[in-house]
Amino acid sequence: MPSSLVDTRARPLRDLRISVTDRCNFRCSYCMPKEVFGPGHPFLERSRLLAFEEIARLARIFRSLGVEKIRLTGGEPTLRRDLDRLVVLLAQIPGLDLTLTTNGSLLEQFARPLADAGLHRVSVSLDSLDDATFGKMNDVGFPVARVLAGIGAAAAAGLKPVKVNGVIKRSVNLGSVLPLARHFRGSGHILRFIEFMDVGTTNGWRMDEVVPSRELVALIGAEWPIEPVEPNYPGEVAERWRYKDGAGEIGFISSVTQAFCRNCSRARLSAEGRLFTCLFAVRGTDLRALLRGDASDDRIRETIAAEWRARDDRYSEIRKSETAALPKIEMSYIGG
Ligand code: GTP
Ligand code: 5AD
Ligand code: SF4
Ligand code: SF4
Repeated sequence: MPSSLVDTRARPLRDLRISVTDRCNFRCSYCMPKEVFGPGHPFLERSRLLAFEEIARLARIFRSLGVEKIRLTGGEPTLRRDLDRLVVLLAQIPGLDLTLTTNGSLLEQFARPLADAGLHRVSVSLDSLDDATFGKMNDVGFPVARVLAGIGAAAAAGLKPVKVNGVIKRSVNLGSVLPLARHFRGSGHILRFIEFMDVGTTNGWRMDEVVPSRELVALIGAEWPIEPVEPNYPGEVAERWRYKDGAGEIGFISSVTQAFCRNCSRARLSAEGRLFTCLFAVRGTDLRALLRGDASDDRIRETIAAEWRARDDRYSEIRKSETAALPKIEMSYIGG
């Protein structure tokens, strides 16, 4: 029975994040630093990626195990050709909230087809409103205006509310916090600041670059008073706050200073079909081998269930300077 599937810490399996490609057209320093992900970088070959039909089959099996939300990620998911065709397949599965996390660069073009295909909502990353600073973050000189246009296109296509995710690095874009807050206050979009995390092993993570959420709450609250709001659901990653003057909601994702592993109900599927039970995992279970080896749905379901029952992950709760240097999968591989 789906409701009885819990891990060793009594956490149910509710969310599945599916990476559809490990490629990206940005080179954010905190995720795919140019020096590591250069022109010669060996990305996954197409034949190794799960086909849309394979993803949809797994999604149905995950649904039968209790998953209620599927989020498509990357790399940059909109780079995967014909992504709307996958959305059509997933939208046929009853009872699923279907969302996408994107850098927004291609949303002007794809928001409408994705919405028409059955996508419900999007989260868009945007780390600054200033081109010079945003350019330093995405490291390919991508202009802010085109991401803003993508956000507008998403809202116009009904992919609402749009969540806007900003990663803050103290030495680079702390100065972008208040302009971002000012811009998105009252816009109907929900801005969320994410603490810079030690994902992967290549992003040069340092604790002194992390800006604790409580510092941002104080910074923003001094400009526009804010108050906390109850979570939408247990295990929500963002802490919700609202402007006291009615200008809407703002959120903080504090995975470094206030770990949220206790309620973590997320599984992750890589583009080549490996199942990971934590963003900071080292090892994944090869579901593609089962798919391509003619395993039955029941056999695949039992494999996933067994992995989940054995799950003990709580990386963010035990993070120390030593753990930051341990081997881990890259964020661009597993999609955040
Ligand atoms: P909604 O609640 O539907 O908005 O989804 P979400 O907040 O999980 O989605 P989104 O992709 O926007 O998540 C924002 C960011 O939070 C991710 O990109 C990660 O940086 C971080 N995050 C999400 N899930 C986890 C997690 O399980 N562990 C950690 N450490 N960070 C996470
Ligand atoms: N720390 C925090 N957030 C990160 N993201 C990517 N790398 C990191 C990191 N090291 C965020 C992106 C995007 C989401 C997929 O994950 O900005 O919003
Ligand atoms: Fe690409 Fe997103 Fe990683 Fe930036 S954070 S490099 S946009 S996958
Ligand atoms: Fe979940 Fe792992 Fe993130 Fe903790 S560190 S919230 S267990 S994904």
